[in-house]
Amino acid sequence: MKTNFSIVWKMLFHNPDFALHTAYSFGKMYKSNIIDRNFYKGKTKELALVYFRITPLCNLRCLMCNQRGVSGVLKGSYAAEESKKLVPIERYFKLVDELKKDNPMYYIWGGEPFLYPNFMDFAEYITQKGSMLSVNTNGTFLEKNAERIVKNKWHALFVSLDGFRDVNDKIRGDGSYDRVIAGFKAINEMKKKYKSHLPYMGIVTTVSNMNYMYLDQLTAAMKEFNLAWHIINLGTYTNDTIIAKQRAYMKEHLDCDIRCLEGFNTGYNEGIDGHKFSEILKKVHALKPGYPIITVPALNPDKTTEYYADLEKIVRHECRVPWCQVNFDYNGNVHFCADYPDYIIGNIMESDFYTIWNGERAQKFRNELKNAPEGIFPGCVRCYQNMLFGKKVKGY
Ligand SMILES: C[S@@+](CC[C@H](N)C(=O)[O-])C[C@H]1O[C@@H](n2cnc3c(N)ncnc32)[C@H](O)[C@@H]1O
Ligand code: SF4
Repeated sequence: MKTNFSIVWKMLFHNPDFALHTAYSFGKMYKSNIIDRNFYKGKTKELALVYFRITPLCNLRCLMCNQRGVSGVLKGSYAAEESKKLVPIERYFKLVDELKKDNPMYYIWGGEPFLYPNFMDFAEYITQKGSMLSVNTNGTFLEKNAERIVKNKWHALFVSLDGFRDVNDKIRGDGSYDRVIAGFKAINEMKKKYKSHLPYMGIVTTVSNMNYMYLDQLTAAMKEFNLAWHIINLGTYTNDTIIAKQRAYMKEHLDCDIRCLEGFNTGYNEGIDGHKFSEILKKVHALKPGYPIITVPALNPDKTTEYYADLEKIVRHECRVPWCQVNFDYNGNVHFCADYPDYIIGNIMESDFYTIWNGERAQKFRNELKNAPEGIFPGCVRCYQNMLFGKKVKGY
């Protein structure tokens, strides 16, 4: 299974600027982990990647979704209530100006990011300022916005697809597959029209017991869309025991109540047979779709069953995230953990960003994390960010 770094080499040929910037950001991450983590007492001088969970709203209700799915923590009318607190675009413009000195990479997600009012204007502002922009979307609004996306030179699109038509639509809703495909076609047409290789466009699949046996069908269907990668997210499942441990740990060490981990307590990991899944992944690779296939985490195939059946088994440790990454939530809250926004280090509607970034609460979090057993909290054991950037435990 390939590592996430393999994408950089692929990009180098078409877009050295983007490839070098990505490599530079990886460099910052490693530097912050070696130097800042060990010598700056909870502060950091690096900021490589900024996330924006720009809206809690979504037009889909994917079954496994930790936000809007069956166990989602934003389901029902809660998201609509929360959407009244959206950060106004003017504050985002100012924030981009503030962040310029670090020139981080931007990654916008949600909810469904296209549901943020003025989303296209925000994206345009980022690329006009010369920053690298990636967007994670369910792909259902791509067709409508294709021309502006290409004209504005977005750098990367991470489009979620969980299977070929029927499998995908059972999870993500009727008609969603075809809307994504219409989006791919429209983007490719616009790239041709404007003679542009941007945005790089790839798919992200969240593995569950609903789709893992059918991933080869998806790969076979994707060959014609000029994709740049397929990320196979093995999933970030949890259970009652882990949630209880995390609740107690966060209360004791950070005086923080948690609610977000519960969204990943879905049971959609149950019954995933690691041997069968490894065979499917072999088929997926054998189809040679012409783009890198990356599993997150890159996992020793022998350990796949354990990954799904023993959720407490640590496969990555020493989380690096708070030393180089930050997530801005739809209401202006700032936190480190994109998927578990429980511990808030500040709010950009009340303060400038850099006061927050190395403020007292940020330092406390970094120090607690650094001193936690294995360098992670009990609930981080399948965290997607840690699966992407954490240190591999030997054998996994
Ligand atoms: C929450 S969505 C937000 C962006 C956009 N709406 C989309 O679907 O891509 C971000 C990613 O998280 C994935 N995801 C949803 N539920 C998940 C879960 N329970 N575990 C891991 N990933 C999940 C989605 O499939 C998607 O790729
Ligand atoms: S489209 Fe994204 S945010 Fe919306 S329900 Fe599906 S996974 Fe969740």
